[in-house]
Amino acid sequence: MSYRNDPYDPKQAALLDPSSLEELIKLAEVAFAEEANTLDELRALKPVHLGDRAPVSLARREIGSLPPHAKSEAGKRVNAARQTVQAAYDAREAELEAELAARILVDERVDVTLPWTRRPRGARHPLTTLMEHMGDVFVGMGYDIVDGPQLELEWANFDALNIGPDNPVRGASDTFFVDLPGLVMRTHTSPGQVRTMLTRTPPIRVVSPGRAYRTDELDATHSPVFHQIEGLVIDEGITMAHLRGTLDHFAKAMFGPDARTRWRPHYFPFTEPSAEFDVWFAQHRDGPRWVEWGGCGMVNPKVLVACGIDPAKYSGFAFGMGVERTLMFRNGVSDMHDMVEGDVRFTTNFGMES
Ligand code: DAH
Repeated sequence: MSYRNDPYDPKQAALLDPSSLEELIKLAEVAFAEEANTLDELRALKPVHLGDRAPVSLARREIGSLPPHAKSEAGKRVNAARQTVQAAYDAREAELEAELAARILVDERVDVTLPWTRRPRGARHPLTTLMEHMGDVFVGMGYDIVDGPQLELEWANFDALNIGPDNPVRGASDTFFVDLPGLVMRTHTSPGQVRTMLTRTPPIRVVSPGRAYRTDELDATHSPVFHQIEGLVIDEGITMAHLRGTLDHFAKAMFGPDARTRWRPHYFPFTEPSAEFDVWFAQHRDGPRWVEWGGCGMVNPKVLVACGIDPAKYSGFAFGMGVERTLMFRNGVSDMHDMVEGDVRFTTNFGMES
């Protein structure tokens, strides 16, 4: 093709020349590869090779000075060149981003084997977490968790539960009295039943985990401060079969699928009939056996009346068990001292740091 008759100065459009375009592509590729070792350096090169005053942009401007028949071909060429430079830029950018990500992974890696310098924060007490776990099992059966005061009305702790004024457990040899008349440190969690019946209407399904006090000396199996969980269900038509099923389910939830309960007739003033129950504990470290777990029974109609519930319409069951006892045979803790001393070497063993 000859441009002889065209007013076209090839020098002016020299940048549009295929070899010039090749050249500027190569320059850009070399610059991106060799001068840009970081994303910042690469970005600084962008205006040089892709900006308004970059060779590829200047070349495009020269299209205007070409004769009409040459414009389209030159335009395609310059666009292709621009795309090649842009692609080289993008490729280098992706490469540098990947390098950066890899470097961050290495630089910011945490060596979990290094000795820790964090100050130990102690641990939640296993009795606390066990009580929460017990509560959760009952919440799963539709119960509410209720709380009551540890300094309790003598009436709620004893009288309302059919524990008469002459009952020896009301003496100072069993009960902690305070200087305020009519108040005692609660000797069990059963007054939680009384407070619940006074404030709720049937159907009632509650458990009340918490602390109780008795004038026992601290030894391997006793503590003057201990924990119980109390349960109470009141509705129409509640029978001992419901109680049995509930305790068996609870036993399985606490001790695994082999667990079950065994009842022995007993006497409690607040239930009639009453039973003490044992649980079959297959994992006992001295071999599988029945272990004594708690007391239970059908709520005594006298208790229902004292708490304003009509025994002709409603019946209910109640149960209570010791949390320390449960922790002892469930987790192989043999000495009560470990539970009350508050040594983190004991609590952290349970893996409950938080
Ligand atoms: N309050 C009893 C105790 O401290 C335990 C108990 C027995 C609770 C029978 C109950 C029950 O609710 O029905 O030994």
